[in-house]
Amino acid sequence: MRTDQNRWNKRFGKKGFALGKEPNPFLKKHIHLLPRGKALDIAAGEGRNAIYLAQNGFDVDAMDISEKGLKKAQKLAREKGVKINTFLVDLDQFQIEKGRYDLVANFYFLKRRLIPRIKKGLKKGGKVIFETYILEHRTLGVGGPKQAKYFLKPNEPLRLFKGFRILFYREGIFREGGRKKAVASLIAEKI
Ligand SMILES: C[S@@+](CC[C@H](N)C(=O)[O-])C[C@H]1O[C@@H](n2cnc3c(N)ncnc32)[C@H](O)[C@@H]1O
Repeated sequence: MRTDQNRWNKRFGKKGFALGKEPNPFLKKHIHLLPRGKALDIAAGEGRNAIYLAQNGFDVDAMDISEKGLKKAQKLAREKGVKINTFLVDLDQFQIEKGRYDLVANFYFLKRRLIPRIKKGLKKGGKVIFETYILEHRTLGVGGPKQAKYFLKPNEPLRLFKGFRILFYREGIFREGGRKKAVASLIAEKI
């Protein structure tokens, strides 16, 4: 959507990395559980997670609607001495190729209609790693999205990934990466 594109280009157009250069702590902690191979980073932003995956031996496709974000992601990849493939796409429209990926990473981008496409895009035995805010985040007063649709309801990821083998799940308030956040995090395998 063009409004999302403008909003994120504005945010990523500023100096510095809006979401930081460090990978998401949940991804970093569980990297050993993830099958190496072809990975897709959904709504990759400025690339912090895509680059971490590339540093860990994945062949990464990083997709996002913001060209400013992807430009920064390529810059950071060069800085870190790794290669990532970036694709400027609107994930509202994009169809993920069936059975293409060993891993899909979906961090802080809640698009419920995309979940069936993520499931389809994974190989059998492939895994998804997912994390985003739960409703309680709004009570913490630490920023984050405003609209209710961007927050997960209790146990919602378990419903969204029904039919997959749940390998790890947590939901609650955590202090990670130097900040407090209320999130749900999941790792699940396509069976
Ligand atoms: C909160 S950021 C998360 C970025 C990244 N996953 C991370 O954790 O660092 C949300 C991202 O979604 C992207 N985005 C928003 N709407 C999109 C759409 N329709 N298609 C693709 N990307 C979109 C934005 O450009 C932004 O990079």
